[in-house]
Amino acid sequence: MDEENIKDEENSKELDYFIDIKPKKSIEFYEAVLEGLSSPQKAISPKFFYDERGSKIFDKICDTPEYYLTRTEVALLNDIQEELYSLIEPGSVVVEYGCGSSIKIKALLSALPEPSHYIAIDISKSHLILTAKEIASNYHNISVAAICADFMEPIDWPEKASFESLKRLAFFPGSTIGNLKPGEASQFLRYARHLVGDEGTFLIGVDMKKDAEVFNRAYNDSEGHTADFNLNLLHRMKNELGADINISQFSHNAFYNEKLGRVEMHLISDIKQVIKINSLEFLFEKGESIHTECSYKYSVKEFSELAKKSGFSVLKNWSDKKNFFSIYLMKAI
Ligand code: AVI
Repeated sequence: MDEENIKDEENSKELDYFIDIKPKKSIEFYEAVLEGLSSPQKAISPKFFYDERGSKIFDKICDTPEYYLTRTEVALLNDIQEELYSLIEPGSVVVEYGCGSSIKIKALLSALPEPSHYIAIDISKSHLILTAKEIASNYHNISVAAICADFMEPIDWPEKASFESLKRLAFFPGSTIGNLKPGEASQFLRYARHLVGDEGTFLIGVDMKKDAEVFNRAYNDSEGHTADFNLNLLHRMKNELGADINISQFSHNAFYNEKLGRVEMHLISDIKQVIKINSLEFLFEKGESIHTECSYKYSVKEFSELAKKSGFSVLKNWSDKKNFFSIYLMKAI
């Protein structure tokens, strides 16, 4: 056993089991940046936002008055607890994708009739083990496990969780599915359909279409945390890749693209300038952007159609009073 495996075993001692699928991290940051800055529309994938600093800034975004998503979803989850109790089979095995804030999974586990087993899936090993351990120490009647994997790659149901008669429920809160392009979102749902199997169900939180102004406020919070989150990509390029960048000459830009039904985030170059990475130079015209994120928004009809073509049918959906956010309970078809 190598040093890393010994450390993982030590760290995950309180868990039922820990599986490391060693996510390929398809392209590393360096390659992604070189490729992204060489395209006609410069772009870097939003998955690179979430280093330690970026994850902390994201938590701050969730607490801003403008970013309604987190608080609306948590309130909605609490409101539907009784209904979930009657809709979900007793003893279910709950699988959470991209375990983020433990408030949401706790609201779910506390609502369900005697959930038997919880499996956390995340690409970040340290974050994953921490969350799983926290759940294990709070829910003594639930056995807890963790799988380190990229959910954009197929994951097989763990043999150790093959309790024949128990139903599987996947959970994916936060409208993180919105950060996938519709084709990728459909692929992800198909992988989830494979994981939960023929009798499986899926509870997912999705941000809804609404007035552009609400989005423009939510992604341009007055405390500037979203701007920091976006600009963190340039800090990463400087710190990790040794890039020669004047970060103060880039600005955060986020807006709702009504035609495409998505919020877009960009980093705009305030002047004509060059970013240097090793011996490579990337020229920016004044006003030119790096596209850093899409956050797709779905009407109930649109999301139900996406689910249907990806192997799920919607059993029930709930929205808050303002119709800002939806939670869907779906079953495998
Ligand atoms: C994680 N994800 C659902 C967030 C969103 O709203 O698309 C990420 C985010 N980007 C800017 N603010 C928050």
